[in-house]
Amino acid sequence: MLKLVDLTVGYGAFHATHGIALEVRAGTVFALVGANGAGKSSTIMSIAGHTEVHGGCIEFDGQDITHLPINDRVRRGIALAPEGRRLFADLSVAENLMLGGYARPRAEEAANRDMVLDLFPRLRERLDQRAGTLSGGEQQMLAIGRALMAGPKMLMIDEVSLGLMPKAVDICYAAIARLRERGITVLLVEQSTKRALEAADDVCVLESGRIVWSGTAAAARQDPAVIEAYMGLAGDGAHG
Ligand SMILES: Nc1ncnc2c1ncn2[C@@H]1O[C@H](COP(=O)(O)OP(=O)(O)O)[C@@H](O)[C@H]1O
Ligand SMILES: [Mg+2]
Repeated sequence: MLKLVDLTVGYGAFHATHGIALEVRAGTVFALVGANGAGKSSTIMSIAGHTEVHGGCIEFDGQDITHLPINDRVRRGIALAPEGRRLFADLSVAENLMLGGYARPRAEEAANRDMVLDLFPRLRERLDQRAGTLSGGEQQMLAIGRALMAGPKMLMIDEVSLGLMPKAVDICYAAIARLRERGITVLLVEQSTKRALEAADDVCVLESGRIVWSGTAAAARQDPAVIEAYMGLAGDGAHG
C-alpha cells in the first residue's frame, strides 16, 4: 500500500531522515517507533505532504506521490491525525468532524460520521461540546475521528498514546484494531513501544533519522529488550 524508497526529508539544509526504506502492507497495522527527535513525525508528515522531500520517493497504491499536493493525497486515501491533535478548539466536536469530511459527497460524509461515532461513542455524547474543553483522550479520539471523516485507505496517527490516561490509550488501540478489521491500513507512530508492538503487524525502529531495526511485531515481541535498547532512554515504556 505504501512504500518509502531511500527517503530523505527535512527542513531547509537539515535532513531529519537519511534514506529510509519501508513498506506498509495493505490491511495491516505498521508501527514506526523511536525516541523523541528520531524523525518519526518528519517521516509521516512527508507522507501527508507537509514536510519537504530531499531525496528518494513515496509510493502509495502503486503510484509515485512524492510531489503531489496535500489535497491530492487526501483524495487518494491518506489521512493524518497529527501530533498535538491540531483541533479547532473553539468549534464543536460535530463541526470538527464536518471539517474532516468536507471533501466527501454528502452520503459518504454521513456514513463516515456514523462509523466514527460508532467507534468512539464518547464523541457522540459530546457532539455540541467545544473541542478545546475535551479531555486529552477525547481530543485524541476526535483527531482520529476527524481524519477518518476523509474516508481514508490508510490512516496515520502520530503519537497515539503520548500524554493520555491508560483508559484513553485502551480506547484508541481498540479503535485501531477495529479499523484493521474493516480493512483500513494504519500507520502509527509511538515513543513507547509496548502497546505499539501489541497492536502492530510490522514494526520499524527509527534512530537519528535511520532505520535501525525492522521486522514483524511478533519478532519484536520475542525480544523487546533489543527494541528498547535502540530507543534509548525515551523508550522506557512510561506510557504503558
Ligand atoms: N519544523 C522543523 N524545523 C526544523 N527542524 C525540525 C522541525 N521539525 C522537526 N525538526 C527536527 O527534525 C528532527 C526529527 O524531528 P521529528 O521528526 O519531530 O522527530 P520525532 O517525531 O521522532 O520526535 C529533530 O532533530 C527535530 O529537531
Ligand atoms: Mg514526533
